[in-house]
Amino acid sequence: MKVAIIGSGNVGKALAGSATRAGHKVTLAAKNPAHAEEAARATKANAARSSRDAVQDAELVVLAVPADKVDEVVGVLAAELDGKVIVDVTNRVNPKDPGQVLDGSSTAERIQKQAPKAHVVKAFNYAFASKMADPKVDGTNLDAFVAGDDQEAKQKVLAFAESIGFRPVDAGPLAMARALEAMALLNIMLQIQNNWPWQSGWKLAGPTGSKTV
Ligand SMILES: NC(=O)c1ccc[n+]([C@@H]2O[C@H](COP(=O)([O-])OP(=O)(O)OC[C@H]3O[C@@H](n4cnc5c(N)ncnc54)[C@H](OP(=O)(O)O)[C@@H]3O)[C@@H](O)[C@H]2O)c1
Repeated sequence: MKVAIIGSGNVGKALAGSATRAGHKVTLAAKNPAHAEEAARATKANAARSSRDAVQDAELVVLAVPADKVDEVVGVLAAELDGKVIVDVTNRVNPKDPGQVLDGSSTAERIQKQAPKAHVVKAFNYAFASKMADPKVDGTNLDAFVAGDDQEAKQKVLAFAESIGFRPVDAGPLAMARALEAMALLNIMLQIQNNWPWQSGWKLAGPTGSKTV
């Protein structure tokens, strides 16, 4: 798959490394093109001079920028995103006032409103970058919950998640991004409160096959 990753920080680098290892063709962008080049060298990806250049022929566009930069990035790309699958990996984080984040909205739905002709999918935001680089804990593949309203777009992201080592789980419509964003915040809060080492990931225990009568 041709994958553009906007953001070449912790998450951009982690996903780029996993994706190139899985055989995907990855193009990275950053605010500062030198950061994209540096990340691309480290992950066997390509670097683009701008986000616009990165998304040109991408099948998946991963948004791996700070949540407060999302409007700006989506605004600049605007029509370039029409018909594209956008994977929203972002989180609003406010450990001092979690209620401010848990306000019944989601960034993913906001992006969908801003880019109505794109197909927005929420995924990976609940995983730490270290787990996006290596989605295993004690030999168990972590779950990648994938939420979106467009079935075809969601299938693409589920396939991508599986290719990089997650167990893919269809988490329902894009509104479920609210739950996925809350899961990220819960995991972050647990690390901070308990002084844990930021290595936990989400795995749903129990059978997931269809019930047979
Ligand atoms: N870190 C984690 O473990 C983790 C896990 C799950 C989700 N997330 C979420 O994922 C997102 C990225 O996190 P991160 O830790 O990777 O952040 P980060 O290390 O700070 O990287 C952010 C990247 O976004 C780029 N960027 C900022 N504004 C931009 C713009 N206008 N156009 C293009 N690129 C722009 C930055 O470019 P420059 O390098 O040029 O500054 C940088 O490469 C955040 O929303 C975060 O909440 C993080």
